[in-house]
Amino acid sequence: MTPLLVIEGVRKSFAARRLLDVAGIELAAGESYVLTGENGSGKSTFLRVLAGLERADVDACRFDGRPVELQKYPAWLRQEVIYVHQHPYLFRGSIADNIAFGLKVRDMGRAERCKLVREAIVWAGVEDLLDVPPHRLSGGEKQLVALARARVLHPRLFLLDEPTANLDAQARLQVMGLIRNLCDANSTVMLACHDREIIELPHMHRLHIENGAITACAAPTASR
Ligand SMILES: Nc1ncnc2c1ncn2[C@@H]1O[C@H](COP(=O)(O)OP(=O)(O)OP(=O)(O)O)[C@@H](O)[C@H]1O
Ligand SMILES: [Mg+2]
Repeated sequence: MTPLLVIEGVRKSFAARRLLDVAGIELAAGESYVLTGENGSGKSTFLRVLAGLERADVDACRFDGRPVELQKYPAWLRQEVIYVHQHPYLFRGSIADNIAFGLKVRDMGRAERCKLVREAIVWAGVEDLLDVPPHRLSGGEKQLVALARARVLHPRLFLLDEPTANLDAQARLQVMGLIRNLCDANSTVMLACHDREIIELPHMHRLHIENGAITACAAPTASR
């Protein structure tokens, strides 16, 4: 089967420091990957390069078999790849407006948009928060809304940056539930994290970054 993403030769430096020197990685469609590594090892930077939010030298990249220049990041690829920040930014307006934003940008008609936003609200379990101004939400609640905002677009690849970091036990459980759901729903998910429970999820492929290089760790063991 054609891999969803193949990227070869990724290099990124800050001044004299070579942060990324990745020979290459391959992500299969419908699989989940966790990227571990020490603080400052380059996890977020790598995800942001894949999302077109950070520039890097890249030898070659193919998405679903189609060659892409990540430096130019074509519009069609922006529709296929969504990055969710560790501390998601929600703009003024309502929670529903935030979730609807990407659909609006894509010129989706109002009726269809409202239906999908409603489904995403239920999926994320944020029905009770709809009247709360986004800037009043807790970190965990913001993360739920950000995951709904990403999922409503049905990208082929979710890039989640430490989605459970700094959350209390209850919020973490809720976010974990959504992550499990994304991983089980045949989406390709790549997460950067330090959270043991996510790292040990069944069928999670483990990648580790150290000294700029990404290596694959032991294959997933548990059966679904
Ligand atoms: N614009 C920049 N200029 C200089 N150095 C930078 C810049 N952006 C990031 N860095 C450095 O690159 C390194 C990697 O950062 P990155 O955020 O990718 O690490 P990380 O693995 O995600 O860490 P954490 O686990 O703490 O989230 C850090 O040491 C950071 O200070
Ligand atoms: Mg990071």
